[in-house]
Amino acid sequence: MKTYGVDVGWDAGGTPPFRRMVGCLRHPTLRTAAASIALIIASSAHGQQETLYVRTLAANCAQCHGTDGHAASGAALPSLAGMPRELLLAQLQAFKAGTRPSTIMQQLARGYSDPQLEQLAAWFAAQH
Ligand code: HEC
Repeated sequence: MKTYGVDVGWDAGGTPPFRRMVGCLRHPTLRTAAASIALIIASSAHGQQETLYVRTLAANCAQCHGTDGHAASGAALPSLAGMPRELLLAQLQAFKAGTRPSTIMQQLARGYSDPQLEQLAAWFAAQH
């Protein structure tokens, strides 16, 4: 069985592998260390999934703003890559609220939840 890319296959006795691993560590510090490692593995897998999710959201912007927000040189549309996160988010929220007049972005921004707009703003701000 595969979960988050980590093989968590149970042994014949039905003991989960992490349990087995932690079970053989009797020293409390080592136990904590093992638990932390398990947590790091789990959270980095979660991080990768989240990155993939935001990439997928951001791919919807590529047809106009370029791949990862890098507009083609000479393009009429602004590059989003490296724009400050707060500025991006403020623009997206203004489009969504209709307070910034626009041709297209108003319709588009309405299709995203506020947390998704925050993720998009953080994503494009982090592109170089
Ligand atoms: C169909 C083309 C199109 C797509 C797709 C698109 N945009 Fe835009 N975007 C525009 C246009 C055109 C403008 C200029 C404002 C307007 O007229 O809507 C703009 C402006 C912006 C601005 C303001 C930039 C500035 O310099 O103030 C931001 C931020 C932005 N878009 C983010 C996004 C994000 C994030 C996505 C993906 C969720 C996206 N756009 C998808 C066409 C598009």
